[in-house]
Amino acid sequence: MFRQLGKFHTMISKVPFVDPSRVYNKLKEKLDSAYFEVMSRGDLIDRGQLKSFESNLATFVGTKYAVGLNSGYDALHLSLRALNIRQGDEVIVPAHTFVATCSAVVNVGATPVLVDVARDFNIDVDKIEEVISEKTKAIIPVHLSGWMADMPGILKIAEKYNLKVVEDACQSLGSAINGIGAGAWGNTGCFSFFPFKILGGYGDGGAITTNDESIAIFARRMRYNGEDRETGEYFGHGFTCLLDNLQAAFLNIKLDYLPESIKRRKYIASCYKEVLSDFPDLLLPHYNRVGFDHVYQNYTLRSKQGSEFSDYLKNNGVEVLTQFRKPYYKHEALNLMDRGFPETEALSREVCSLPMSVELTDEEIKYVIDTVRSFYKKH
Ligand SMILES: Cc1ncc(COP(=O)(O)O)c(C=O)c1O
Repeated sequence: MFRQLGKFHTMISKVPFVDPSRVYNKLKEKLDSAYFEVMSRGDLIDRGQLKSFESNLATFVGTKYAVGLNSGYDALHLSLRALNIRQGDEVIVPAHTFVATCSAVVNVGATPVLVDVARDFNIDVDKIEEVISEKTKAIIPVHLSGWMADMPGILKIAEKYNLKVVEDACQSLGSAINGIGAGAWGNTGCFSFFPFKILGGYGDGGAITTNDESIAIFARRMRYNGEDRETGEYFGHGFTCLLDNLQAAFLNIKLDYLPESIKRRKYIASCYKEVLSDFPDLLLPHYNRVGFDHVYQNYTLRSKQGSEFSDYLKNNGVEVLTQFRKPYYKHEALNLMDRGFPETEALSREVCSLPMSVELTDEEIKYVIDTVRSFYKKH
């Protein structure tokens, strides 16, 4: 594959990490027509586009229901509320994740209990039982970067201790284990449509997927200040966190292209793998677990040279992401218990996400590869 890319001359000044305007230009006709349809009818809140997107999303994930929300955070937050997680309860979360996973637990009044991750960046299943107490009520496995946590292993533990499972699938729409989609394993699945996600909107958005009708009804009411929209009855003090109809219209169009864009991501990942596998100081995100499917929302590798490596890429025009340099539990204001998480700490020094968007040109892929190789030739 890489050999096919070999013909380019590298005249590139910058490879962006993502460039939402490129997708817009590709889908412009459809997105513009969706915009004009919604605007000309004034269909802004809780209309057909939202219902249609929810139905398509549920089908795509493989659940009975999907409920569109304002953000991935809201999906986590309402999931925990739907499962009656509250003050006095403990919820297991990975030490390495985006902070929102943990904040959702804190904001329902429960206590997050952090567990270190394994080499694949996801929660280390062998370390979960050590922290289970009488107060433990739920686990939130996070499927980072397009690669799922070990759901068969996690469900076994959940069953043994009677725990609820909320999947944080915000980074992994389209991923699966043995053909069962991310977001279809737990009591709920939580998705984010933040613009840079694998299915990105034009503003933030999120959704809960579930097979449990009572959870879907709860989330539909709570996203609308607790109101049942048909009867006008309030079923509790709720929130304002409905997915906008306009965003739903855009997401519906982009969802159609998701299988095609996942193929492109896998192609880019295979190009990176083919020519970057021979550097012992680089740990690439290819894990080869039977039945597991990586959709590469992010191509997050580990470099022993840490910031020296990522700075070199940045200084040579490759925009990379290094947002996890300081683990969230080390931020004092979050007031979390740091029990020592060696894998999380080691990876925090080393992580670097290479550009991995479907709109990358072959020339840009080659430029990224050449820049990484030129760094390692100097080492
Ligand atoms: C793993 C993870 N959890 C939760 C979230 C929260 O999603 P949002 O930004 O839509 O609230 C994100 C996205 O940023 C995420 O990557």
